[in-house]
Amino acid sequence: MKATEYIWMDGGLVPWADAQVHVLTHGLHYGTGAFEGIRAYEARNGTAVFRLTDHMDRLARSARTIGISFDYSVEELVKVAKDLLSVNGLTSGYLRPIAFFGTGSMGLNPAGASVHVVIAAWEWGAYLGEDGVKNGIRVAVSSWRRIGHDSFMPNAKVTGGYMNSVLAKTAAVRAGYDEALLLNSEGLVAEGSGENLFLVRDGVVYTPPTSAGALDGLTRDTVSTLLTEDGYDVREAAITRTDLYYADELFFTGTAAEVTPIREVDDKSVGSGEPGPVTRRAQELFMGTVTGELDTHPEWLEYV
Ligand SMILES: Cc1ncc(COP(=O)(O)O)c(C=O)c1O
Repeated sequence: MKATEYIWMDGGLVPWADAQVHVLTHGLHYGTGAFEGIRAYEARNGTAVFRLTDHMDRLARSARTIGISFDYSVEELVKVAKDLLSVNGLTSGYLRPIAFFGTGSMGLNPAGASVHVVIAAWEWGAYLGEDGVKNGIRVAVSSWRRIGHDSFMPNAKVTGGYMNSVLAKTAAVRAGYDEALLLNSEGLVAEGSGENLFLVRDGVVYTPPTSAGALDGLTRDTVSTLLTEDGYDVREAAITRTDLYYADELFFTGTAAEVTPIREVDDKSVGSGEPGPVTRRAQELFMGTVTGELDTHPEWLEYV
């Protein structure tokens, strides 16, 4: 990870190395934080942050689910994010806003704890590797089940919930795979450890609903919208493990992962074993949109 010069913390810029918290931070002990992952691209008319306002909206929504409120409006956070890229001289990169409970309470109830809001930015290439984006990745269904709506909020981006993803991801990588795919407690496909899943069969594109335990990913929404506008039939549907094995194509979407083809699932080739035409089209539409090369949704590009 390449450090940048400044991190924005609780209202001001601090040097990267000084952006620190106390060891009795509530969020550190109990996972009481909400966060976002956002990408900025070198687009046709300069640096553009992709769906920045939507990401900051989701940050506020996720924070609300665990009782975190902060004084900054979405508009203010949008401005801070853009300024942070400029002050760090980044023309593209990844932004990580996080809001969390700090010190002042060490019981489980965070009442009385301070609230901190931080945004960091740095350069970040392909999350699942350049080769993964080009040729596809190898995925295994995890033995860990996706946390359910009966015990947590799988579609809120809350830090504590990510232990579930960390367990699945590390087990998959230890076993020699690139990424894990999590089923929910009913055995239906939920999502990857940090990505949404798409499945193509007989020309129809499917993705699991949030009720199955998926995050309502902004890349998922972007790709669904772009493929639909391109004439594809895109549906939210329950997906079983067998459906994965019968699929013509599988791919992941996410801010970090962008559109990453899956070439193998559980050691079986997906389709021909090479990224298929719908996956390629999704990649083309997505990258064309985020860079402004395609004029599909200019309103999603928030220029710095
Ligand atoms: C668990 C999980 N699912 C899906 C996604 C994809 O969401 P988005 O496209 O909004 O980045 C992410 C990344 O934020 C994630 O952490």
